[in-house]
Amino acid sequence: MTSVGIDAIEMRTGKLRLDLPETFAPAQGDDPGKYTKGLGLTASSFPDVYEDIVTMGANAAHDLMERKGLEPEDIGRIDVATESAFDNSKPVSTYIAGCLEQVYDGDFHHANKGERKFACISGTQSLDDAYNWIRAGRNRGRSALVIATDTALYARDDPGEATQGAGAVALLVSEDPDVVELSTEQGYGSADETDFLKPQQQFPSVDGKRSVQVYLARMREAVKDFESVAGKIHPDDAALIPFHTPFPGMVRKAAALAFRHVSRDTEIEEELAPEIGRQPRREAFDSEEAFREAAADYTDDLTDTDAYREWYAETVEPTLTISREVGNWYTGSVHVARLSGLKAAHEDGIDMTGEKLLVGSYGSGAQAEIHAETVQPGWADEIEALDVDEQLAARYELTFEEYEDVHDVHNHDEDAGAADVDQFTAPESEFVFDGWGRMG
Ligand code: CAA
Repeated sequence: MTSVGIDAIEMRTGKLRLDLPETFAPAQGDDPGKYTKGLGLTASSFPDVYEDIVTMGANAAHDLMERKGLEPEDIGRIDVATESAFDNSKPVSTYIAGCLEQVYDGDFHHANKGERKFACISGTQSLDDAYNWIRAGRNRGRSALVIATDTALYARDDPGEATQGAGAVALLVSEDPDVVELSTEQGYGSADETDFLKPQQQFPSVDGKRSVQVYLARMREAVKDFESVAGKIHPDDAALIPFHTPFPGMVRKAAALAFRHVSRDTEIEEELAPEIGRQPRREAFDSEEAFREAAADYTDDLTDTDAYREWYAETVEPTLTISREVGNWYTGSVHVARLSGLKAAHEDGIDMTGEKLLVGSYGSGAQAEIHAETVQPGWADEIEALDVDEQLAARYELTFEEYEDVHDVHNHDEDAGAADVDQFTAPESEFVFDGWGRMG
């Protein structure tokens, strides 16, 4: 059976940067430590006034096609994942295809286009759809373009404002991929939840504290479901574990929970027992609450051990580097985490070929998915070709007053038309938003 997976990755960050400890925290009257230590963020990527989900997605896709030497006829499918869509009928992929057709001789009339929605997990669902399409033999030798693009903005003074971000990730999904091969092993945790939703509104309604608990509950279910098909996971199984990263502090909690679960009944639990005891077993407690308290205490002790710290530093921490600088990209976030981990490994000279990744995706509403990937021999060349650091460094540094103005523009505030607000970055040779038309 031919291997199928991610053949190339490109990302486009929003071109503005909002510094959280230096600019946002003082304006909010907050201790900068809440952002840098608590949430684990140093900055947000913010879209300039001429950027939106279409321009960022089209620019990422264009970069990818140029680098891989692709023409429209090489692409048989374009799926866009977003929770920032502006059209309830026409999928964002058609707008992006329209942009790309301005700069290529050919067109995408032959390509199946769609838009996936399930909050942040839809980026991974689109990847899964592309994988299934190729594995089913319906691709006629063509690749799929998966674009996860979002302006993850919150209402001013919403607690989520600190976690904002904007950017797009384009993934080329092909046979004999260069970056990672996807496996058939998957596990899900899914339930009807209302902690985070956007019913016909610009910004989400969020019960932030509850959303954290729902993330952990669904992720726990997904890990168990994954084990039901792939067998028990051992902490050493994966070289990297990229999680959906709304903010790195969320991943810190998810990683601790995952490590506790997968180290249970392994030699790691035995080795740690003299130091912190054995994991509490539910059957030993009279009430669920008493069990939860004991489990939380055990988890706190566990995260203080050298065994946990080493595991976290090797498998999780490298996946958070980009996120700390860009904030939440919703559908693109877990794909930024994978990219971040591979980039760190490349910079450290680690050969990842043949290594396994366990990818923990999540979307509010709510669903988690764990799936396995295997790193392919071409991964280092693909990572080497990216300009992530250059893009991040080129962002325009916003003052707080400028941030307020740009936020108003993206909020479609009638008093803040785009004409009144400076464009802070001057693009050359790329797609920009120009009312309802888009200029190549
Ligand atoms: N120094 C160090 N740490 C500090 C600190 C300081 N001075 N001040 C606060 N902290 C710590 C807090 O202790 C807390 O850490 P713990 O959670 O480990 O206790 C952390 O900083 C955040 O502080 P608060 O809990 O007080 O922050 P908050 O209530 O203002 O906001 C939030 C937190 C509710 C998560 C908010 O950011 C939010 O609503 N975010 C949007 C929703 C979200 O991202 N949810 C995540 C799960 S849902 C999901 O993943 C889907 C998605 O993409 C949205």
